[in-house]
Amino acid sequence: MHRSFIILLCLGFVRAILQNITVDDTSPDIVYGGGTFHCNATAPCPDGLKAGLFNESATLTLSPIVFNFTGVAFYASLDLVGAAAIILDEEEPVILSNPLSDILAGSGQGSRNISKTGLANIPHTLTIAPNTTLTPPTIIGFDQLIYTASLPDKKSHVGAIVGGVLAGVAVIFGMLFAALFARRRKLILRRNQRKSAVLRGITVARQNHNAGEEDAKELP
Ligand SMILES: *[C@@H]1O[C@H](CO)[C@@H](O)[C@H](O)[C@H]1NC(C)=O
Ligand SMILES: *[C@@H]1O[C@H](CO)[C@@H](O)[C@H](O)[C@H]1NC(C)=O
Repeated sequence: MHRSFIILLCLGFVRAILQNITVDDTSPDIVYGGGTFHCNATAPCPDGLKAGLFNESATLTLSPIVFNFTGVAFYASLDLVGAAAIILDEEEPVILSNPLSDILAGSGQGSRNISKTGLANIPHTLTIAPNTTLTPPTIIGFDQLIYTASLPDKKSHVGAIVGGVLAGVAVIFGMLFAALFARRRKLILRRNQRKSAVLRGITVARQNHNAGEEDAKELP
């Protein structure tokens, strides 16, 4: 019972709401390390990039893209010609490759979704670094990024704490009552034992006394 109270309290602190936040390539939260070309409805994106773009826009760049977020997952959507390293924090880079020769040969890949889930809920830095040593240099067409924020559920937070405290108080009272009841029972038992011992003593004494009287009577 006591343990369940502690678990209830902990649940109050752990509980969180997961929320997906979509960041468009036009968002000021996306930091481009160099020149960019924004394509959209009025400045059409290249044919291979056009289909299914979020907000009908993408950003073309030859430079690294950096995004800082605090959350437990990210899902990025991009296209590229060449190769790029996807780097999350200090982790080993993941290399995406789509060589121009493949595209020209008709075996190039379309837009890519890269994701990582199960991250610690701490600040992260995602870097998409194009390989600039290729000829021609890598072009990235960045469409959008979703990250999953883990927000504390304030309402159930307070609810769980209040619930936990009430449960705890109930448990403590329950234990107190149980202890008092057990003590009372023990006292009553002991008193009854004492009482019956006294009664037994009295009975024995009376019997002896009666026996004594009878003995006395039998005396000549
Ligand atoms: C967030 O979006 C990803 C990809 O679209 C999806 O798999 C995931 O279930 C979403 N998470 C939430 C909490 O909506
Ligand atoms: C869509 O793109 C425009 C600029 O092209 C921008 O002003 C707007 O905020 C974007 N919408 C979303 C939902 O990001």
